[in-house]
Amino acid sequence: MVKVLFVCLGNICRSPMAEAIFRKKVVEAGMEKSFVIDSAGTGDWHIGKRPHDGTLKILKDNKVDSTNMLARQVKKEDLKQFDYIIAMDAENLGNLNKMKGKDSAAEVRRLLDYIPEAKIVDVPDPYFTGNFEEVYELVEEACNELLTYIRKKQSL
Ligand code: 4NP
Repeated sequence: MVKVLFVCLGNICRSPMAEAIFRKKVVEAGMEKSFVIDSAGTGDWHIGKRPHDGTLKILKDNKVDSTNMLARQVKKEDLKQFDYIIAMDAENLGNLNKMKGKDSAAEVRRLLDYIPEAKIVDVPDPYFTGNFEEVYELVEEACNELLTYIRKKQSL
């Protein structure tokens, strides 16, 4: 099993969007039995909450399933359990690297690092910008690249 965890700040806007989009791509590739896909936030404000209405709407508009997703906070154990821990921005990445112990073999990188020659490195936070469309486009493109990358690396 390849375990992939998407991480943002609140786990209500960007990382649940990435989780849902990536899951759809894995299902479309017929590979859902080979993956565990989850998301979490570095902050604790929204634990137990459903994704933001803006994320739910853009997912629905694009026919991406968002059932059963509830916010949770990232924990130290996640760094040991997951193989790929995908941060949305530099702040998330910094916090994850602080949590990462020597016993973690996870690949911890930013999502947009998987896009060759990406124009920006951080996924903008739509909680503050209100622009969920821009984020959807970026996350969609990056998830394609991420899945291709993982399949190659894991020989899947
Ligand atoms: P996210 O967006 O990290 O993409 O889920 C945010 C959601 C909530 C907050 C910040 C960012 N907040 O400060 O409550």
